[in-house]
Amino acid sequence: MRGYQAILMVAVAAWSAAEGLAQQQKSAVAAAKTAASEDGLAMTPPMGWYPWNQFGQGPQNETLIKQTADALVTSGMREAGYSYVGPDEGICFFRNDNNGQLATNLKRYPSGLRGLGDYIHKKGLKYALYTDAGTHTCSKAMPGTKDHEQDDMRTFAEWRCDYLKIDWCNTKGQDVVKTYTTLREAQLAAGRPVVHALCTWGGGQPWKWAAAIGHLWRTTEDICGPGRANWGKAMQIAFANQRLYRHAGPGHWNDPDMMITGMRGLSEAQNRSFFSLWCIMAAPLIAGNDLRSMSKSTVEILTNLEAIAVNQDPLGKQGHVVRKDGKVSIWAGKPLYDGSQAILAFNQGTEPADVQIKWVDVGLNEKAELYARNLWMHETTGPHAGGLSVNVAPNDVAMFRISKNNAFPIPPIISADSYLVTFRTGDGTTAQSLSKAIRITDKGTNALPAWKVTPNLPDWLDVAVVRDGQVQTVTCTVSTAGLEKGLHHALVRLDNKEPVSGRPLSAFYFDVDLEVAQDVRDGHR
Ligand code: GLA
Repeated sequence: MRGYQAILMVAVAAWSAAEGLAQQQKSAVAAAKTAASEDGLAMTPPMGWYPWNQFGQGPQNETLIKQTADALVTSGMREAGYSYVGPDEGICFFRNDNNGQLATNLKRYPSGLRGLGDYIHKKGLKYALYTDAGTHTCSKAMPGTKDHEQDDMRTFAEWRCDYLKIDWCNTKGQDVVKTYTTLREAQLAAGRPVVHALCTWGGGQPWKWAAAIGHLWRTTEDICGPGRANWGKAMQIAFANQRLYRHAGPGHWNDPDMMITGMRGLSEAQNRSFFSLWCIMAAPLIAGNDLRSMSKSTVEILTNLEAIAVNQDPLGKQGHVVRKDGKVSIWAGKPLYDGSQAILAFNQGTEPADVQIKWVDVGLNEKAELYARNLWMHETTGPHAGGLSVNVAPNDVAMFRISKNNAFPIPPIISADSYLVTFRTGDGTTAQSLSKAIRITDKGTNALPAWKVTPNLPDWLDVAVVRDGQVQTVTCTVSTAGLEKGLHHALVRLDNKEPVSGRPLSAFYFDVDLEVAQDVRDGHR
């Protein structure tokens, strides 16, 4: 950790020097380690849900977040890869005047923010929270982290937060690089790996420097006001974000904001187009609609595994516009792990469009004879020589994978039935051994190797992994011999690789809690 911090400080000091942003742009990602190269987080774009787009501030409370967590499971979204969930600027904490520490607003979150996190983890989901880098959050209803960076990051770690969006309101006079660097260092010092989502709305051009500090950064202003999906604005944002494609990659993503798919006012074609654009841009897939009352069509769009496979591809390339003829744009530049390419044609006109997609326009050999997998029709056609003709309805897309093979495998899409394993011993001073398991499921085509346990476990814990096709069972065995009464905790890290490309998957972390009722005598383990 210390070596990493030193690299981070040297890198940031170099960037802050007056050599100019253009230079930083070229060297930053190549020369510096990314945040993810240490913690292994967000190796593919994070997927989850945040309340802001649909709800704004007022309706956010524990019931809404728990119902949404439940809906992530019952809708099938969890199994499709969505995992991060929690309140946004939902008046969830205040600063305690007596000790300067953050404390839960128990009126809105009666289980406490740690209790809410436990609920989410036990549902097989990960815990997302929100704060601000300035004196206050945007509405000023919550305190910001300014001058409390160390304490607050420790508190978020104690609440067992896995993903933290850090906004940039009320930051007058603060240097953006220094501020987010301080926050990253405070997160490292707090010792819990957290996906760090910067939110400067593109201010300070974070794509040029933030890969060493965080895992994703907003590139544009808000996509909509709460409850008011705005198609025109969403499209402006998509076209602005696609231009930044060179800056994205595993562990460091351009974030064009939370999704509006499934919000009132959008047609099915718009929902499909929006989702396809976010998928091909390797954008974080953070749903923003009300998951408790989705139409069948919205669920089908949000859980289309063939589109999600493009977004979650291990190479992590960001697709972008390669040709625009009037209202029709062709998007490509998205090579995938199996040698195929994702492409799409998007029609923003009011009439259906006949579109010729030539292989040369999307970076392929003009003479090639290639198969095309339609990712919304779920059909393979071909081989096609030279290109593909397709009719695209107004506001709609045609999205394909193109390959010389007639097979379109799905990369790893990981979910778990829990991220929290809890043990409680009965009364008594005799040593006990107890076991519990969690299951990790992969929707990918190629079976994964066994997840590897990072060997830094405390003496009282053993973790063993058993593979059975797409499901791996992770068994935790605790031995209480010699342990003192009280709560013992471990954070376990598992790592794995995608077998075709050899690219690392996002590290898989989970918590183990062991509550020991009485001091236990030494004994056999
Ligand atoms: C900013 C962010 C939004 C949302 C609100 C909350 O505007 O960009 O995504 O978090 O703050 O106030």
